Amino acid sequence: MRLPSHLRCPHHLEQSLTHEAGLEDVSELNCSLGCRFPVIRGVPRFVESANYAAGFGLQWNHFRKTQLDSYTGTTISKDRFTRCVGGSLDTLNGKSVLEVGCGAGRFTEVMLAAGAKVFACDLSDAVDANYENCQHSQNYFVCQADLRQLPVPQHSFDVVVCLGVIQHTPSPEDTIARLTDYLTPGGLLVIDHYSHNYPQNFFQRNLRRALIRMPAGLSKAFALTLARILLPLHRSTWNVERSSSRLRKLLLKHSPLIDYYEAYAHLGNKLLSEWSVLDTHDSLTDYYKHFRTTEEIANCLRKCGLEKIEVSSGGNGVEARAKMPASAAKLAAAIH
Ligand SMILES: C[S@@+](CC[C@H](N)C(=O)[O-])C[C@H]1O[C@@H](n2cnc3c(N)ncnc32)[C@H](O)[C@@H]1O
Ligand SMILES: [Zn+2]
Repeated sequence: MRLPSHLRCPHHLEQSLTHEAGLEDVSELNCSLGCRFPVIRGVPRFVESANYAAGFGLQWNHFRKTQLDSYTGTTISKDRFTRCVGGSLDTLNGKSVLEVGCGAGRFTEVMLAAGAKVFACDLSDAVDANYENCQHSQNYFVCQADLRQLPVPQHSFDVVVCLGVIQHTPSPEDTIARLTDYLTPGGLLVIDHYSHNYPQNFFQRNLRRALIRMPAGLSKAFALTLARILLPLHRSTWNVERSSSRLRKLLLKHSPLIDYYEAYAHLGNKLLSEWSVLDTHDSLTDYYKHFRTTEEIANCLRKCGLEKIEVSSGGNGVEARAKMPASAAKLAAAIH
């Protein structure tokens, strides 16, 4: 992995970062004003791992490959990404892309395959899984960093992608504003957000309330054990003839397990189980979980000065894309 030319000290954005050997061999990056950032397992770290996203770090390192198309042999991630980006991956060929909240890399690998130059980042240790999955690409860089203080100057990227993330940050509106700061004039922002239709029953709501107060390791152990106990029960109620059984209806309504037997039947038993356990953990341990309407997201994008705003219901709730004005006058208005 090579350092991208626009990598800077997050505290002194005018300062480039230097190191002595290849990234795999160095232990830190240095700013000439004295800041030092460790490089751990080949990945530069600009934040500590003990933060509100620690549970995601454990999750993506446990389920390193589960949602990657290259692992499932499906196009589930590619299809979702293609829809979000506007229908064609050609938009990304040769473009510099900032992927915020990259997780294990289900979308990173899609963008790299589409010819994008990807600068991926995540607040959590998920970067280790992402690095393992994507490091073979020449056009790839990943670091552990907070989107609120990234090690890059503003207006550096043709495309900014942030999928499955914004609802899990302290303030969705602040996050969207920060993301737009990284767009070049004419650049494209691609985001999504949970909507108020997000399914959450009594047990899910209350279990989550308890789990997010626990250390991430403990809540992970609890959520995975619970999911593994419930999974055979769900599986036993699922088949075409019995799909309308009373027990299945009851489970779908009240169980905390995320049951994919209908939605992703084509994944097969092993993968279906992995996806269910992963998403049960995800839905019970996310520290922040916000909901927004399509109108609220559209308003926020307008306030950020973006144009060509397209917002629709779909995927995880709300999917949206918009452009930074290309003209200098409009850009100035958007920035100030
Ligand atoms: C639900 S995961 C989605 C990961 C990936 N985009 C995907 O769809 O598979 C949300 C990710 O956002 C990251 N995240 C949350 N807050 C962040 C922040 N302030 N800066 C960077 N990443 C953040 C978490 O660490 C987590 O890996
Ligand atoms: Zn510095």
